[in-house]
Amino acid sequence: MSDAVPAERPPEAAALHGRVLALRDGLERGLIGASGLVERLLIGLLTGGHLLIEGAPGLAKTRAVKRLADGLDGSFARIQCTPDLMPADLTGTTVWRQDSGTFEFLQGPLFHALVLVDEVNRAPPKVQSALLESMAEGQVTVSGVTHRLSDPFMVVATQNPIEHAGTFPLPEAQLDRFLLHVVVDMPDEGTERAILDLVEGELTHHAEPMPTRLTLAEVRAAREAALATYVSPALKDYLVRLVAATRTDAAAPDLRAQIEHPASPRGTLALMMAGKARAWLHGRDHVTPEDVTALARDALSHRIGLTWRAAAEGRTARLLIDELVRRVRAL
Ligand SMILES: Nc1ncnc2c1ncn2[C@@H]1O[C@H](COP(=O)(O)OP(=O)(O)OP(=O)(O)O)[C@@H](O)[C@H]1O
Ligand SMILES: [Mg+2]
Repeated sequence: MSDAVPAERPPEAAALHGRVLALRDGLERGLIGASGLVERLLIGLLTGGHLLIEGAPGLAKTRAVKRLADGLDGSFARIQCTPDLMPADLTGTTVWRQDSGTFEFLQGPLFHALVLVDEVNRAPPKVQSALLESMAEGQVTVSGVTHRLSDPFMVVATQNPIEHAGTFPLPEAQLDRFLLHVVVDMPDEGTERAILDLVEGELTHHAEPMPTRLTLAEVRAAREAALATYVSPALKDYLVRLVAATRTDAAAPDLRAQIEHPASPRGTLALMMAGKARAWLHGRDHVTPEDVTALARDALSHRIGLTWRAAAEGRTARLLIDELVRRVRAL
């Protein structure tokens, strides 16, 4: 599904790129019709970003992250959020060791390379804020002592949009700790038939293992390579124009008027970094407007807040960003 003339790469870099594409293919083989989600998981991995995946129950959110864990030679933890969870359940705790007469820090599940936080909106606010802080800082502080987390450290949080009772919506101001907010939709009929065949086959025979396991050193090297992808001055201008359109009336005043909180430079940076990773995955050495338009919705919509009037009229941030992308001149 590569879409462009591949950039010429030295053999070592080409081999690394090939390994990442093999990981992508392995993920896609076990996740029917989910190439968009797979690409975004890889973009997270290649930028050091975190993902928020939203979708109804049973859309393979957990399966996708578990499969990614199978394709990585790093540790994996899963946290099932409940209203009685405490920050120490994530970060770890300091315990007193009677025998040695010392305090010892017992690491919590955040000390893994890939952390699946299932149903993050069922965790109480203190836990959410400990989680979001660790995502932003790459470290946790327990009993006044700061501990570095793994590198790479990637959080994939899931939430279920139809559950309201007993949930704590993530605070809007903290949502932008996530690089991308991915929404997974119901499969079409053809996809669903293929899912039946795949899962039936897995139950009666055996699950197809991931063909590749990337080491964490390879992930770091791929991240460095993706980061080196070129972004032209004209493309940077486009990125700024797009995000500025959520703040000023220059491009689309009618849309701007529906926005209460615009996106910050963190959003512009997120879109550029995600664009670099996408370009690299597609075998290009430079970012194109298409990388930006493909990712704008997932990179920006959770960073803007609509006015109550726009929300009451049924507008959504995702549709609004789509419309902005259509209206703002690319180059
Ligand atoms: N696109 C898909 N490809 C492969 N399997 C799928 C797909 N969609 C759903 N499934 C299957 O549906 C079942 C549910 O998947 P999973 O448990 O990952 O869903 P989930 O989105 O995490 O649900 P929940 O929100 O309830 O946790 C699994 O058996 C999974 O194999
Ligand atoms: Mg799940």
